[in-house]
Amino acid sequence: MADAPYDSYKNWIESLLVFGSNERRIGHLRNQIMAELKFQNTTESNPSKIKQTLGQFGIAYERWGNRHSSANTDSEILVLYEQEISQLKTSANYVTADLVALRPETPNLATICEKFVKEHHHNEDEVRFCVEGEGVFELFPENAEPLVFKAEPGDLIVVPAKYRHLFYLTETKMIRCIRLFKTQDGWEALYEKEA
Ligand SMILES: [Fe+2]
Repeated sequence: MADAPYDSYKNWIESLLVFGSNERRIGHLRNQIMAELKFQNTTESNPSKIKQTLGQFGIAYERWGNRHSSANTDSEILVLYEQEISQLKTSANYVTADLVALRPETPNLATICEKFVKEHHHNEDEVRFCVEGEGVFELFPENAEPLVFKAEPGDLIVVPAKYRHLFYLTETKMIRCIRLFKTQDGWEALYEKEA
């Protein structure tokens, strides 16, 4: 009985050490997951430089960071990023936000991916905040080389309306994103270059 307070204190200290270790490990892993931009034979993973380069071609990029886990439901994630979503809605007249996910087990995944791997555009902005997984946007500015941007969790990208682009999953075959739209109906991909 005499050792009980000491054991309790020791357990508390050990739990703090384990927690700290996990935090460092998770932080380390998160630091390993970086957005990437390939342009003109260079590969950039510095968020500020990615923002600057994409911005030169009219594409918005922001790091919202990660305040969620894969256990969060869609509605929980919308609440966690409510402030950023609200600011974006106000700044660019988006009216609705939802979540979309593609996973290896998604029915007809290959057919769905085929639609977006072809060069296309939309009549609305394509707004994506990557929550989980990753995906690659190839962006085709007029009079410049293509930009190849890999979105990772915590990254927001806004591909403007009419901007030619394509999208594909990486080998993980998984992405979960917040989307924002200016109409309740969303949009469809348009594939003809003259469309
Ligand atoms: Fe698209």
